[in-house]
Amino acid sequence: MIIAIDGPAAAGKGTLARRLAHDFGFAYLDTGALYRAVGLSVLRAGGDPADAAAATEASARLDLALMDDPELRTEATGGAASKVAAVPAVRANLLAFQRNFAKNPPDGKPGAVLDGRDIGTVVCPDADVKLFVTASPEERARRRTLEMEGRGEAADFEAILKDVKARDDRDMNRADAPLRPAEDALLLDTTNLAIDAVFLRAAEQVKARL
Ligand code: DC
Repeated sequence: MIIAIDGPAAAGKGTLARRLAHDFGFAYLDTGALYRAVGLSVLRAGGDPADAAAATEASARLDLALMDDPELRTEATGGAASKVAAVPAVRANLLAFQRNFAKNPPDGKPGAVLDGRDIGTVVCPDADVKLFVTASPEERARRRTLEMEGRGEAADFEAILKDVKARDDRDMNRADAPLRPAEDALLLDTTNLAIDAVFLRAAEQVKARL
């Protein structure tokens, strides 16, 4: 069983994916973390994430230990991830890892949940369940602001909103594997929907395929 969850940044994909994986006993892969790890490794080497050669090289020898690095979650790393993700060779280098995870989930788990931008369209076009989770940019910026404040970080709503929109623009308008719902994806707009309601609708889809 493969569950593909796509959508823009801060729409609630990760929360939904983790909960589905936990409740159904499936493995979970946050594919954004792979792109973040590539972005972070370019930043740490003093390179420019928009430089295709630097990004490609970092993706070819990706250190998976970076997936647990605390700096993976910063806004700067998210921005760098969105830039390296526009480089086709980076996407190609990360594809086999994601497909292998989906087809052979670790620990012999009976299924996998992958979240990202192109899971239902490119990575796993044959996924059993495809969900596209979205919310308005303002609501996503509001959630990011609260999240950062919750961690005791300074957060400027207007700056975060600008960032969310810039990232959407890059993710949706790149030539290779742009963010868009698969034709057979169920759309879940979480702007005015509580996470429990989102989870119930998603879980119904999964149960129907079990
Ligand atoms: O979901 P996230 O914010 O961690 O993702 C970081 C960036 O990685 C995002 O802006 C676009 C890119 N990404 C991608 O292009 N394809 C994916 N499957 C996942 C993430």
